[in-house]
Amino acid sequence: PKRYCILLAAGSGNRMNFPTPKQFLKLAGRTIIEHTLDMVDGHPEVDEIFIVTDRDYRSFLEEILLRNHYAKVTKVLNGGASRRESSASGIFAVEEDDALVLLHDAVRPFLSHRIISDCYRALETHASVDVAVPAVDTIIEVDEADAIAAIPNRARLRRGQTPQGFRASVLREAHERAMADEGVEVTDDCGLILRYGLGEVHVVEGEERNIKITYPEDLYLADKIFQLKTV
Ligand code: C5P
Repeated sequence: PKRYCILLAAGSGNRMNFPTPKQFLKLAGRTIIEHTLDMVDGHPEVDEIFIVTDRDYRSFLEEILLRNHYAKVTKVLNGGASRRESSASGIFAVEEDDALVLLHDAVRPFLSHRIISDCYRALETHASVDVAVPAVDTIIEVDEADAIAAIPNRARLRRGQTPQGFRASVLREAHERAMADEGVEVTDDCGLILRYGLGEVHVVEGEERNIKITYPEDLYLADKIFQLKTV
């Protein structure tokens, strides 16, 4: 089957308090999305890359693509107001039913080739996969009044990263169901698989350095990780 990677890059980056969306901020002299694309485009198992972006930044992204000659980028799609709508835009653009599709946050530039390979390998035997790392903090669940409602056993808790991987037909069905299901908002695609009972989601080991650049502080950390990467 054909192997896709869909990069989600349609977020506005509000939490950054910066006018430019975070995927277009610079890290070590190049935009964050270029670092992410270097990893994905350079992976031998990835056949095609789709990028989902905000209309307002489309021409900016197209300039980036012209500058770099990424051989595998075949589609640039418009995203939506929520991450769910952006991933729907990506999955509905995949034509084959049996394709293996990874969805990855463009703002996680330190994705490793090992993680990509492990996800595709897991998709040979599982319909859906997630990538996660152990929770280092104790995670507490609170109620509306900010009182602790539960403290789940940390040994069983993981922090979800991306990519998340799916057989195309399964993720397409999840998004069709979500579109018919007025008002549903789930923070990620694996959440949709669970919500609609579309089978088990296998968990692949992530990496601590596969951070999501969300807050301004993350750029400092990213800069250091980048130095580690190049030695
Ligand atoms: O906002 P958050 O940190 O969850 O964003 C994760 C990824 O999803 C980012 O790469 C962002 O560009 C993307 N996203 C998107 N469309 C949205 C919201 C987020 O493609 N409407």
